[in-house]
Amino acid sequence: MLQRNPDPDWWRQAIIYQIYPRSFCDSNGDGIGDLRGITSKVPYLASLGIDAVWLSPFYPSGLKDGGYDVSDYRDVDPRIGTLEDFDELVMALAEVDIKIMVDIVPNHSSDEHVWFQDALKAGKGSKERERYIFRDGLGANKDIPPTDWQCAFGGPSWSPSGRDDGQWYYHMFDSSQPDWNWDNPEVHEDFLTTLRFWADRGVSGFRIDVAHALVKDFNGDLPNWEEMNGIREKKLRNGNKHITHPYMDRDEVQEVYKEWRKVFEEYNPPLFAVAECWVAPDRKPLYASSEGLGQAFSFDIMLCNFDAQEYRECIIQSLKDSEKAGSSTTWVLSNHDELRHVTRYGLPNVPNAGYPEFDDAFNEYKRSRFTNPPVDVATGLKRAKAATLMILGLPGSTYVYQGEELNLPEVIEIPNDQRQDPHFHRTKGECLGRDGCRVPLPWEATSKNLGFGSDRPPHLSQPEWMKDYSVDLQEYNEDSTLNFYRRALDVRKELQCAEELEWIKHDVEDVLHFARPGGWEIIMNAGKTPVPLPDGRRVIVSSSEMKDGMLDGETTAWLLAE
Ligand code: NOJ
Ligand code: CA
Repeated sequence: MLQRNPDPDWWRQAIIYQIYPRSFCDSNGDGIGDLRGITSKVPYLASLGIDAVWLSPFYPSGLKDGGYDVSDYRDVDPRIGTLEDFDELVMALAEVDIKIMVDIVPNHSSDEHVWFQDALKAGKGSKERERYIFRDGLGANKDIPPTDWQCAFGGPSWSPSGRDDGQWYYHMFDSSQPDWNWDNPEVHEDFLTTLRFWADRGVSGFRIDVAHALVKDFNGDLPNWEEMNGIREKKLRNGNKHITHPYMDRDEVQEVYKEWRKVFEEYNPPLFAVAECWVAPDRKPLYASSEGLGQAFSFDIMLCNFDAQEYRECIIQSLKDSEKAGSSTTWVLSNHDELRHVTRYGLPNVPNAGYPEFDDAFNEYKRSRFTNPPVDVATGLKRAKAATLMILGLPGSTYVYQGEELNLPEVIEIPNDQRQDPHFHRTKGECLGRDGCRVPLPWEATSKNLGFGSDRPPHLSQPEWMKDYSVDLQEYNEDSTLNFYRRALDVRKELQCAEELEWIKHDVEDVLHFARPGGWEIIMNAGKTPVPLPDGRRVIVSSSEMKDGMLDGETTAWLLAE
């Protein structure tokens, strides 16, 4: 039986490594990453010095949205492995003291989920349809969708039941992802069962997908799409003050998490969860509180330019939000949804829109950067390492996305017929989508499929240049990004301290300087001109080389008193 580490606060300043299972390592050569592949790389994971892995969905799935369309929440996709493989992975990780977190996708299922299939068959007015959100269409023939709302990937957010009964079902994402009806107690019960199912298999925590949108109120007069966007924008900027939205960040969603908290507390130590929630800063503490999920992602640092002032403001705000919740904050530079940060930092700066989803200029930029990206690779890498070392010096936990430790850039040149992201398909290619950060990892420079798998080509093809980023090439190169991550995580463990931070004033505006308890100082020069290092300190890790007592431009260093 698996022994759990009794520290209930293990996650507060943990390093959590995100694995996108289909693209990590393929053990049987079918071109798809799998659980056994991950198990075979446990020594590699241990060598990084991480505390936990978070697995993006590996459940049976229609695979219309990279596995975020779950058809069975309590099993493993046969293309990825079996429950026994999962148990073996948990054990192998436990042996090297690495915890495991899994993704819970409670806003929607796959249209292949048996309950959705039952709902379609059972017909209008049935209790089966009550598990999802079905409404009659408009017009004499009920052939007009109930509202003009758009789904997150483009196109309408209602699709016909296909049963000639005038009914439509709601999907916030792809039409293959029908939303659950959280007014239905059966849905509540089923998710409690799922949480316990994975906890009983040794999982320490969960990442909660779209945590802000589960509960809907689609009764009465509904706003049209334009009005609704206005409501959403106001709400994101002003929190919940007198503004309610049909599905964004409704107060009632917290009731769901209070129920989940009771399950979390059944375990020792209690289970942990982090919310993916796109909500106003003053609302985040609700999700992150110890009566709710426990922690909430802060993506703001990902939206910052490489700019000292923007970083400073973002850090102050994030620490304030998490403190209000009694939680710790999170630092994220890349994940499976975003342009990899070494590529992002190699692009010219963009105005920080705050909430870029609603900023046309930012969206325009996002589109153009895919088609004609003026990426400066050397700058991207230098900045990426500096930003990484800076966030690793902050209080809170850091989420590292597979491949960022290899300095892997975004893959832009994916053939269109290979693209999988529904965002690409539903916008007819206008938005290239997220496949570019999900290309399988390069393990060995000279092996077939770069060591990802031994036979069939990976499900997203690896460009020729990717070999230069292979793990084996970086392994024995002291100056590689891989060894930079290892060194930084190793030293961080030594220096780990209370979640406190004290700003140190610096004359140069481009410089961020702060101290942590125990004499650990972090200094970042986000400008281009070198600045002198403070006297009486020695550099213990730096993101680029120090010359003549100077901290180079676009560089971070960790310091201790001499
Ligand atoms: C957020 C996930 O990170 C993303 O990959 C997914 O497409 C949507 N939620 C829908 O589940
Ligand atoms: Ca495989």
